[in-house]
Amino acid sequence: MAVTINKVSSDTELKELAVLADSIWHECFVDIISTGQIDYMVEKFQSYEAMTKQISEQDYSYYAVREDGELCGYIGVKLEKDERFFLSKLYLRSDKRGKGIASKMLEKVFEEGRAFGKKQVYLTVNKHNDHAIAVYKKTGFKVIDEVVTDIGNGYVMDDYIFGYDL
Ligand SMILES: CC(C)(COP(=O)(O)OP(=O)(O)OC[C@H]1O[C@@H](n2cnc3c(N)ncnc32)[C@H](O)[C@@H]1OP(=O)(O)O)[C@@H](O)C(=O)NCCC(=O)NCCS
Repeated sequence: MAVTINKVSSDTELKELAVLADSIWHECFVDIISTGQIDYMVEKFQSYEAMTKQISEQDYSYYAVREDGELCGYIGVKLEKDERFFLSKLYLRSDKRGKGIASKMLEKVFEEGRAFGKKQVYLTVNKHNDHAIAVYKKTGFKVIDEVVTDIGNGYVMDDYIFGYDL
């Protein structure tokens, strides 16, 4: 099983990634937030149009995770102006979890952060996302803060902020 993790560089691949994001978000957040909020967040943050804007205007990059060539996950990162690297998205299709791919994805994030000369990777995670929290803690991330973010339409994100020193 060959896993590859490569920066998305074509519109075609970004469109493919948006389709995957829609499906993973509707599967993994169903017990944590309402379907209305999932629909809203996918449109606002993970649609092809939203990601195109993040890449062109906000220093975001997306990475496609493939197993034997098949797209099964993705990573989104953002270069901050300071010494931090924001891990914005880490998503893997459910049938590919628990196989060591997540650790490869996180290692790729650390590699990229170091290559950009960054000193810390940080991320936000929903306080009820127990599995992701366990994965981040096992990898060595530490809780550094918590934040409630108003994302509009009456929705909020209730998150921990985790940090990992590179
Ligand atoms: C988060 C996500 C990418 C992690 O991928 P995964 O395949 O489920 O992760 P794994 O089960 O391989 O766990 C990764 C590592 O954490 C360890 N781990 C997992 N659960 C653990 C637990 N409860 N306690 C201790 N370690 C744990 C695993 O052993 C593994 O380490 P290893 O590779 O050294 O064996 C995946 O679950 C996902 O896409 N979830 C839905 C989307 C999501 O919530 N994304 C995060 C949003 S912030």
